[in-house]
Amino acid sequence: MKFFVDTADVAAIKELNDLGMVDGVTTNPSLILKSGRDITEVTKEICDLVAGPVSAEVVAEDAKDMIREGKTLAKIAPNIAVKVPLTWAGLTACKALSSEGHMVNVTLCFSPAQALLAAKAGATFISPFIGRLDDINLDGLELIEDIRTIYDNYDFKTEILAASIRSVNHITDCAKIGADVITAPPAVIKGMVKHVLTDRGLEQFNADWAKTGQKIG
Ligand code: E4P
Repeated sequence: MKFFVDTADVAAIKELNDLGMVDGVTTNPSLILKSGRDITEVTKEICDLVAGPVSAEVVAEDAKDMIREGKTLAKIAPNIAVKVPLTWAGLTACKALSSEGHMVNVTLCFSPAQALLAAKAGATFISPFIGRLDDINLDGLELIEDIRTIYDNYDFKTEILAASIRSVNHITDCAKIGADVITAPPAVIKGMVKHVLTDRGLEQFNADWAKTGQKIG
């Protein structure tokens, strides 16, 4: 399973990237706002740091302008994946941009039917939003399962990029289902290391070691 980091915070990306935890990055307009940076400048910096795909999102609402924006974003670096919304215009832009060889991430996916359309339009990635479905008492993980089944039934090459991840359990559940990629905030990825029994065990080992009076090295 590939790990993408869902942030435009360059320092946070670097910390995880140095550990080999980063296979790609996803951004969106809200994350660019949070970074307080210029989209072109910060995206270029991320693309220089990370070898894998870096998603940068268009903001136009009609297909023609989405395609124009997508081409502009793709010029930032060769590892840009143009992110388009799951609307009819977004699918039109997806088809056009993917036909020209650009990676396309179709975002804001909330149903298996939408995911099927994105695959047929040539999406490189489909981004189903787990957390936002859970927020309205629907089952985000069930959506990942359904898309996995559909894509496997017809051997679609579009990668399932599980998004809107809010917890460590979301990540492990996505891994069990067979999502190709997860994108999560840095804090959630770092949270994967935590276990109360690890902390308790370490505390006990350290206490017992102190009693031995020994030193290593
Ligand atoms: C995905 O590409 C999105 O940027 C992201 O996962 C959305 O997450 P949120 O629902 O926590 O905003």
